[in-house]
Amino acid sequence: MKKLKDINNILILGSGTLGLRVGLASALNGYKVVIYDIDEKAFASAKKIHQQLLKILTKAGTYTLEQADLAIQNIRFTTNAKAAAKNADLLSESVTENLDIKKKVWQQFGALCPKKTIFTTNTSSLLPSLYAAETGRPEHFCAFHFHDVFYANVVDIMPNPKTESWMMPLLQDFGKSIQQTPVIVKKESPAYIFNAMLIALIGAAGALVTFDIGSIEDVDRSWMGNFKMSRGPFGIIDEIGLDTAWHVTSPNKDEKSKRFAALLKTYIDQGKLGRKTGEGFYVYPNPRFMEEDFI
Ligand SMILES: NC(=O)c1ccc[n+]([C@@H]2O[C@H](COP(=O)([O-])OP(=O)(O)OC[C@H]3O[C@@H](n4cnc5c(N)ncnc54)[C@H](O)[C@@H]3O)[C@@H](O)[C@H]2O)c1
Repeated sequence: MKKLKDINNILILGSGTLGLRVGLASALNGYKVVIYDIDEKAFASAKKIHQQLLKILTKAGTYTLEQADLAIQNIRFTTNAKAAAKNADLLSESVTENLDIKKKVWQQFGALCPKKTIFTTNTSSLLPSLYAAETGRPEHFCAFHFHDVFYANVVDIMPNPKTESWMMPLLQDFGKSIQQTPVIVKKESPAYIFNAMLIALIGAAGALVTFDIGSIEDVDRSWMGNFKMSRGPFGIIDEIGLDTAWHVTSPNKDEKSKRFAALLKTYIDQGKLGRKTGEGFYVYPNPRFMEEDFI
């Protein structure tokens, strides 16, 4: 059984979108961080994004310039798996969302890491028990799922059936120590807590449009006007990416999902994937829902 004081060295697997953020948040809060990736090219891009994030975070006063400097000194990048694993207290895995890749990487690091290392995975859509056995220590393995780390700073803690109970309070403490709001998902459940609610909201919004009950703008208008939110479900899908929404929706074979996937596909086929391509349901950088007279 471990306590927060036993956690000093953090190993991040995967230097992509999420790995670089979890690594930076850990380093900013005083942990020594090693970021491992198989692709050396990922490091240059991670370093660049670190600088951009630090600029935003120090400008906003979230962290000081001294903390930012220290964070950069606290992070080491490597493609050497053995060296990366050597002294890890907590491993946070953010490799590509693919079951075969996850299984391979956990077999590798399950064997390389010392006994003291506790294991966490950041998977969004796979149930951790699908690869818990590969870790070699399912009792010390738990999902620790971030959202975007700095803006959306909620972290889901979800045990697999074999996770020992002391892991949850430890991960709650660790999450708080890197400025996250931890929430416990009591048992394995697809999409954790927030994503499960979000998928239901987006599915309902899609059905209202595809069954011709309301227009895209009126669905968003209703949500925004009632909750005083800055965007509605379709504005949210534009942020997430219509392609990602399609990947989540298209495997489902019920009528609502089929219709919604078909709607998304008409936009995707025109290259309209949301904010990232300049257009989705709305046109950016000045989407209609941000205009004063929208509500
Ligand atoms: N992107 C998000 O918004 C988001 C949010 C929450 C959770 N996640 C989860 O985080 C994980 C990573 O997602 P991402 O968006 O950062 O992906 P990404 O594609 O940006 O990065 C993945 C990284 O993993 C590396 N990688 C692949 N195989 C590897 C291996 N065998 N060993 C080490 N590194 C390897 C790749 O080179 C790449 O740099 C996924 O499980 C995803 O579901 C993503």
